Amino acid sequence: MTQDELKQKVAEAALPYIKDVPIIGVGTGSTVTHFINFLADFRADIEGAVSSSIKTTEHLKKIGIPVLELNDVNGLDVYVDGADEVNPRRQCIKGGGAALTREKIIAAASKKFVCIADESKAVDVLGKFPLPVEVIPMARSYVARELVKLGGQPIWRQNCITDNSCEILDVHNLSIVDPVALEILINAIPGVVTVGLFAQRAADVVLISKGNDIVTY
Ligand code: A5P
Repeated sequence: MTQDELKQKVAEAALPYIKDVPIIGVGTGSTVTHFINFLADFRADIEGAVSSSIKTTEHLKKIGIPVLELNDVNGLDVYVDGADEVNPRRQCIKGGGAALTREKIIAAASKKFVCIADESKAVDVLGKFPLPVEVIPMARSYVARELVKLGGQPIWRQNCITDNSCEILDVHNLSIVDPVALEILINAIPGVVTVGLFAQRAADVVLISKGNDIVTY
């Protein structure tokens, strides 16, 4: 199976989690793109979706699902999103698609965060995938210096302006043994908008496509 087929398979495996859920939180990325394609078949049952990015918003609208503002709904029951890495404690690195801030807000506002990923994303220790950090543009160099002090090697993501008009530093060479502590530490640096560690609010369910199987944890 190709990686894209694995993404499609795990996206389909998330469908039972949105059964009878009228308003769904929807993430961003190539795995979620498959999930949104599947949603087209359930259009009639879905009242609306809260979207984590401009790209997801456009896709949802294209298939006829109304996009709602998070401010206009009273929290969400289910949020479905991908990940760049996920560990057995269901903690994730996210932000490869630069949508980490809105993703983190929606995950926080949701009762259940269902993370969907192909087997290449499952790791024991987070950090091989460079950790995305969204920053206020004027703080970029300062934040980068602080991240070096934490042992990382931040690289400014070129030609990337986020949906919030901010920039991204990708932090290489971190071995994240205590994701909660690092999330708190990086979030506290002035100028950081969001760090792409989803550890304090980890996923509630992780679905991994592994060959022909779906592994759940
Ligand atoms: C978007 O900012 C990310 O958090 C994505 O959820 C993550 O990068 C996974 O993307 P893919 O499904 O494209 O691998």
